[in-house]
Amino acid sequence: MVMALDEKQTANFFEGVSKAAETVLEAVREDSLIHVFSHLDADGIAAAGIIGKALYRLDARFRIRITQWVDEKFLAETLEEKPQMVIFIDLGSDYANLLKQKASEMEIVVLDHHQLGGEPAKGFLCVNPHIYGIDGARDISSSGVAYFLAKAIDKVNIDLAPIAVVGALGDLQDKYDQRMLGGLNEKIVEDAETQGLLTVEKDLIFFGRETRPIHKTLASTTNPFIPGISGEEDKSLAFLVSLDIKPKHGDKWRALRDLTEEEKKRLCSALAEYLLSKGLRYEISNLIGHAYTLNLEEPWTPLRDGREFAVLLNATGRMDKPSVGVAVCMGDRGSALEEANKILEDYRRTINKYLGWIMEKSERIREMENIYVVYGEDFVDDKVIGAISSILSTSLPNPEKPLIAYADVKEEGLVKVSARTIDAVTYKGVNLGEIMQIAAEKCLGKGGGHNIAAGAQIPTENMETFIKLVNELVGKQLAGEKIGS
Ligand code: C5P
Ligand code: C5P
Repeated sequence: MVMALDEKQTANFFEGVSKAAETVLEAVREDSLIHVFSHLDADGIAAAGIIGKALYRLDARFRIRITQWVDEKFLAETLEEKPQMVIFIDLGSDYANLLKQKASEMEIVVLDHHQLGGEPAKGFLCVNPHIYGIDGARDISSSGVAYFLAKAIDKVNIDLAPIAVVGALGDLQDKYDQRMLGGLNEKIVEDAETQGLLTVEKDLIFFGRETRPIHKTLASTTNPFIPGISGEEDKSLAFLVSLDIKPKHGDKWRALRDLTEEEKKRLCSALAEYLLSKGLRYEISNLIGHAYTLNLEEPWTPLRDGREFAVLLNATGRMDKPSVGVAVCMGDRGSALEEANKILEDYRRTINKYLGWIMEKSERIREMENIYVVYGEDFVDDKVIGAISSILSTSLPNPEKPLIAYADVKEEGLVKVSARTIDAVTYKGVNLGEIMQIAAEKCLGKGGGHNIAAGAQIPTENMETFIKLVNELVGKQLAGEKIGS
């Protein structure tokens, strides 16, 4: 069931969007140089692609940079280059405030969906669903905000709706019944559907459902994560054969889309049983759901399925090639897509390597009273620690214990922390975004994010204190205590 949108909240949100559109249009009319800074994950990259395409269509002067976070060095460079307008996407508004204080003449626009922490926006526009009482963790993501802005700039940008759907899926906003997008995201889905650009249907929603041999699909799925099958093609193949599902038709491998309804049912109930036997009942709800198919994309490419597209974008960011992802979102289906496919393969290998390393020694997963802690040392790349944390958090023995995974950020004297939990725990009152923010502040770092997924950067020497604090704060929230000021 999708809850009806609150009309007043929605109207206020769209008023904010219109104001931002006017501001951007004015800057373009004045031939301003516009710098766009966006976040490294799928949502940030999709949002950057949407804004990039809208600006390109206006013939604007702009530059896009994708980053994991904004820091002082970044600000110093921006101050030196003196763009007339800066658009921050998916990165919070703290640094926008700092930049505004240092360069009051600079026009700044923030498009975001993270919980509001820190100082309110002063002297610039911030379009964030939370300001209007709309849930930014499930009802709209940054690429949705970017999409509505692009559409307010020019209706022609309605063709970017599927990219916004991809961004929302990348941020795991499909939290409505059977992994459906709801809230303002549903409006975007409708836009895409009415244009004939998107089809929504219920199905097994494994990664690769459109494109890959079934056993490879099962083996490459990380959401749900199926221990003994995820990452293990031989075992997946054996699993299929044990169910009497033929992996090939003649000499051609079959994809999930080729299965009969009866075969799909058989596969689905066997997987559910298997997950249950591993104590992973939360993952069962991830087997069947709403699939989002991008009609204009070629079948047999990872762009055809919304979730596969999102993983591809995420991979380009995590493997240090975000501009390839942005180019694909802006419409490049030639060399950028070819490169993106290679990056995706590389990304999968890397994740499997890291998961293998973590599992190799039991002490690499430390269990505390209220949380699990995984330290990737300098082996796990800090840009991939978020994905590792997402995968591990639902596959540890007690998925009700939040996980904080962290890795060294080489040469910065910092660690990057990624905290993840599951819905059931947030319903009990745990808010990882709040915990990361409060604990990081006490440890001279920076933190924030959603209740279910959050992160922080912490000076290495304060990490043990940080871990203890997080463990305590989770305990407090579980006991119903308020932890903020
Ligand atoms: O919103 P933040 O951009 O940039 O999200 C980073 C990551 O957090 C996502 O890629 C996703 O893995 C995770 N996430 C989640 N559940 C949410 C939102 C985000 O697991 N509701
Ligand atoms: O980096 P990671 O994927 O773990 O981040 C999870 C969520 O927390 C993202 O939405 C990210 O933008 C947010 N975050 C934040 N402040 C930080 C680090 C992460 O708001 N310092």
